[in-house]
Amino acid sequence: MNESTPVAFITGATSGIGHACAHRFARAGWALVLTGRRQERLDALQATLEKLVPVHTAQLDVSDPHDVAKVVAELPEPFQRVHALINNAGLALGKGPAQTADLDDWYRMIDTNIKGLITVTRHLLPKLIAAGPGATVINLGSIAAHTPYPGGHVYGATKAFVKQFSYNLRCDVGPKGVRVTDLAPGMTASEFTLVRMKGDRNIADSYYEGTQPLQPEDIAEQALHVASLPPHVNITLLEVMPLCQQWSAPTILRD
Ligand SMILES: NC(=O)c1ccc[n+]([C@@H]2O[C@H](COP(=O)([O-])OP(=O)(O)OC[C@H]3O[C@@H](n4cnc5c(N)ncnc54)[C@H](OP(=O)(O)O)[C@@H]3O)[C@@H](O)[C@H]2O)c1
Repeated sequence: MNESTPVAFITGATSGIGHACAHRFARAGWALVLTGRRQERLDALQATLEKLVPVHTAQLDVSDPHDVAKVVAELPEPFQRVHALINNAGLALGKGPAQTADLDDWYRMIDTNIKGLITVTRHLLPKLIAAGPGATVINLGSIAAHTPYPGGHVYGATKAFVKQFSYNLRCDVGPKGVRVTDLAPGMTASEFTLVRMKGDRNIADSYYEGTQPLQPEDIAEQALHVASLPPHVNITLLEVMPLCQQWSAPTILRD
């Protein structure tokens, strides 16, 4: 692998936005470290994308700190110069009201969207700084961080954490040449709703009916753009919505 080939480390590359980022960055010539829990999907990605660029895959549950430490420690030498970290692995679970929510769902969202994201970040920061100037951390936030909605409780709160963590992180690593972006999508057609609805395909499919949601490729395009800007340019927050979506207007709450 050429010394100057940039490396993108993507979490949650097995589906949706992470999967689209893997394809988009490969087409732009980036070498890839692709991670996720579903090994067979990582294998399929590797078989396809290795025709274009060097690819290293690692099965990784971001909510397991030992797993994260091991995957980063065992990165093969050419993949250690990580120029972009795409902290994409994340999920929402449940959409009912807080008073009937399953606490285990809440804990899993926190373990994945917050603890997983900060653990991966912490382990890779020295490599990003070494790869700098112009290295980039792209954290997948959400419009749910800024706009409350019924049933958004812990999911939206985890994404609000992502936003503030991104802003604070930038204060520390910015002077070291590392940019940090909160990339905050609105409704994007992926497996996100299927996961949120615990595999109920009817509810998941009906969510997108009559709409034109963003496609994962739309967000991947933005991620590549953010990571490819001149090193002194840092997009701090990039909110992207499909045209059919709107922030909620103030509403009257009734029981
Ligand atoms: N879709 C939307 O409308 C939307 C809107 C705003 C923000 N987002 C955010 O965008 C990101 C990507 O979501 P998506 O829409 O692409 O959903 P998706 O299709 O369900 O993909 C989620 C990815 O996260 C991975 N993942 C989940 N838990 C993980 C864990 N513990 N360890 C490692 N990987 C894990 C999954 O891989 P494995 O199951 O193989 O591990 C999968 O690759 C998430 O952070 C989500 O919150 C999505």
